[in-house]
Amino acid sequence: MFITFEGIDFSGKSTQAKLLFDYLKKKKKKVIFVREPGGTKLSEKIRKLLLDKKNDNMTYVSEFLLFSASRNQLTNEVIIPHLKKGYIVICDRYFDSSTAYQGYGGKIELKSLILVNKLASASLTPERTYLLNISYKDSVKRKSKTGTDDRIEKRKEEYYNKVVKGYLEIAKLNKKRFRVLNATETKEKIFNKILQDLNI
Ligand code: TYD
Repeated sequence: MFITFEGIDFSGKSTQAKLLFDYLKKKKKKVIFVREPGGTKLSEKIRKLLLDKKNDNMTYVSEFLLFSASRNQLTNEVIIPHLKKGYIVICDRYFDSSTAYQGYGGKIELKSLILVNKLASASLTPERTYLLNISYKDSVKRKSKTGTDDRIEKRKEEYYNKVVKGYLEIAKLNKKRFRVLNATETKEKIFNKILQDLNI
């Protein structure tokens, strides 16, 4: 089974993904946890390029293609081989992140974006996607005062509002695999909802 977690930065999606991974591990299930961008040698190098603040002239198209390249490596090197061996694969972000951030947020034409998403993911679609839904305003309240923003986190409220709206639109268009969770609830409450939904 292939499960993904989506949401804007500080939505708590990584916490939930990790909680699920630990839970399944404790239950002695065959499970792996991966994150995007990253997860392979090449993908981690691409991640550095993408998040580096010095690359401030990167176009949205280049950005999208780099995320896609990173995804293709992760999919072919790690995700597909593990699914074939019967593992549950939990992924922190997948192609819905590109649709929301580069498509709805970055205005890349959705038709081409969807084609490249399909190519990059080798036509693999998650069976379940949990969207941790939170407004940009609520998400920034959680931001640590000491950490510095990466290249993408430096973007403004207007951009993130589009990403949030985009995610909800994607969820609406893919009702069967999406579950939208209220990210302002406690992490225990959210996690219980995930367990109830998965029934494993
Ligand atoms: P990361 O530090 O991993 O953020 P998070 O823990 O919130 O996932 O950085 C990933 C950043 O890249 C994040 O701001 C979202 C962005 N992103 C895209 O814009 N498009 C994509 O396709 C992916 C996978 C991530």
